[in-house]
Amino acid sequence: MTISSRESDDDEIVVSRRGAVVLVTGGSGGIGRAVALHLASKGLRVVLSGRRLDALAAVQAEIVESGGDAAVLAADLTDTNGPASLVAATVAWQGRLDGVVSCAGAARFTFFNRMSAVEFTDEIQVNLLAPIAIVRAAMPELVRARRGFVVFINSIVSRAPAPARGTGYVTAKAGLLHFSESLFAEIRDSGVAVTSILPDLTDTPMIPDRLGYDRTSLIDPASIADAVWFVMTPRGHACITELHLRSQPSLRMEHA
Ligand SMILES: NC(=O)c1ccc[n+]([C@@H]2O[C@H](COP(=O)([O-])OP(=O)(O)OC[C@H]3O[C@@H](n4cnc5c(N)ncnc54)[C@H](OP(=O)(O)O)[C@@H]3O)[C@@H](O)[C@H]2O)c1
Repeated sequence: MTISSRESDDDEIVVSRRGAVVLVTGGSGGIGRAVALHLASKGLRVVLSGRRLDALAAVQAEIVESGGDAAVLAADLTDTNGPASLVAATVAWQGRLDGVVSCAGAARFTFFNRMSAVEFTDEIQVNLLAPIAIVRAAMPELVRARRGFVVFINSIVSRAPAPARGTGYVTAKAGLLHFSESLFAEIRDSGVAVTSILPDLTDTPMIPDRLGYDRTSLIDPASIADAVWFVMTPRGHACITELHLRSQPSLRMEHA
């Protein structure tokens, strides 16, 4: 009897990921930082983007100090030229692009009636239109790459739009989830994997103290980074198209 070995499958995928170039948007902090550190520790070459060059440089230094390879690109995703220029600069860095982890996002936590039309449009731009534009620009490279991949860090609110003060954010995230599903259906034969990860509340600067959440009950960004690696290394030709991470504070207490 032959039992196929999960380990050898994994090894093959892990080896093929080593040296791959991945663009991590929102790499200057929070979940994007955790993802960038994790992927670099697995041997991927990481391009980090965000607006704050000093914060990007700090993450880059952490990666380089632990033996990894990283580059940084400052770009504002409310600038409509930002997405295409990010992709062009990433490809120029190492002559290839194997994957995009779209983490950049912003939430104002402001009531709809108190948001200007410009503020609302910015929220749609950063959380929906910019990720789509990045994927559009990256697609030729991703198709060329073996096992190209796109991971959207979406949110559980795309399935369950619970919180008040989030109309723009929730609208954008719901749109991005449907885009992700629809894109996968269109390009599945290309070999490019498309995944949406839907985290619950996570302990990052996006969640301001004024909202009053108990931070010990929020998800650790490192758990989201684990999930990114998990969806990037599936067995065989399966594609994990959607993954939910819910907080379970009682487990944290057990481990404390
Ligand atoms: N925290 C949560 O509870 C939670 C839950 C579910 C999903 N998410 C999602 O997870 C992703 C990461 O969020 P986070 O929690 O890590 O938040 P965060 O710590 O505030 O990080 C947001 C990242 O997005 C970048 N960014 C924001 N606006 C940008 C712009 N206009 N142009 C370019 N980059 C911009 C920021 O970089 P700069 O400041 O350097 O520009 C930063 O790196 C987001 O897509 C968010 O929607 C978060």
